[in-house]
Amino acid sequence: MTAEKNLQALLAGMHPIQRDGEYVYALWPHGRLLAAGIEAAVREAEGLTVVLPRAEADRQGLTYDFVGAWITLEIHSALEAVGLTAAVSRALTEARISCNVLAGFHHDHLLVPVADAPRAMEVLAELSAHNRQAPRPELLLRSETPEDRDAIIALAADAFAMSPATGLPAKGEPVEAKVLRALFGAKEYLPRFSLVAVLEGEIVGHVISSRGWVGDHELLGLGPIGVTPRLQRQGIGSALVNETIARANAAGESGIALLGSPDYYSRFGFVPAASLGVQAPEADWGDHFQLLPLALWPGGVRGMFRYAEPFTLL
Ligand SMILES: CC(C)(COP(=O)(O)OP(=O)(O)OC[C@H]1O[C@@H](n2cnc3c(N)ncnc32)[C@H](O)[C@@H]1OP(=O)(O)O)[C@@H](O)C(=O)NCCC(=O)NCCS
Repeated sequence: MTAEKNLQALLAGMHPIQRDGEYVYALWPHGRLLAAGIEAAVREAEGLTVVLPRAEADRQGLTYDFVGAWITLEIHSALEAVGLTAAVSRALTEARISCNVLAGFHHDHLLVPVADAPRAMEVLAELSAHNRQAPRPELLLRSETPEDRDAIIALAADAFAMSPATGLPAKGEPVEAKVLRALFGAKEYLPRFSLVAVLEGEIVGHVISSRGWVGDHELLGLGPIGVTPRLQRQGIGSALVNETIARANAAGESGIALLGSPDYYSRFGFVPAASLGVQAPEADWGDHFQLLPLALWPGGVRGMFRYAEPFTLL
């Protein structure tokens, strides 16, 4: 996964999340085996400092003063990125909130006094929103060309490095990249529905919809869709879905089916496909199999959705 270095993008997409529970700093007794609950440790000449859940510190009989809430900035920041923690600390200092920063390999973590945690989350959200509003390079949406395909496959490999289906790292090339490669050569490929999002000349997002059917009624099957990990949650995926919907209406398509999170796709008007009489190819997809009926949706379409042939790879 590519790590972000641009400060504005880091702040815009930092996405702070507060972990459950309370955490403390304590000195670990010399010679005692390390306990499983330790979340971070720093070795110094004077001894070993550990950060661990308060309950675990109590269980271990450790003494502590600082009781903190743990906030993770979920963006994948490059270790050599300059300015993120400085900007965050400055905003919290201005709000008179003290803050200890821990840098992990993937993310930065903040420990703030428990009582200040709600305000700290507000301050971070404001800082992030402010950077989202700052002028950004223009996002271009256009149809894919054959020259884009290597970049699209690389983007899919990056976006699906963690499988959204299992939450685990993909083994080898993600299956979504394989499906894409097969779709480009499939009879169900529809050129105007393979869209790229381009930012300053770089392909940062891609969505494809291919021909699918319920019986002999033609629909679109949307997916895979992927956005470069460092630029996720900044509206690029939404722009791609909205452009697909606009093109589908303009082309006289009647509906778009997809497999995905209802939390995400309901904002575009997708509903569980079963509520419209359309069944998922796999029964256990449940409400994750969704359908957007477009202006020309005829009603009365009943049956199981059939994806383009390359989806049999999934
Ligand atoms: C899913 C994906 C395409 C969305 O694109 P994006 O540019 O990150 O999303 P947007 O900025 O347009 O929208 C962000 C919103 O969608 C939500 N969202 C993003 N992915 C989500 C998911 N998998 N489930 C639920 N909500 C999701 C975010 O929480 C955010 O919500 P908010 O606006 O209420 O804060 C992108 O995150 C991605 O490539 N993910 C990895 C690959 C993947 O899972 N593809 C989709 C498989 S169906």
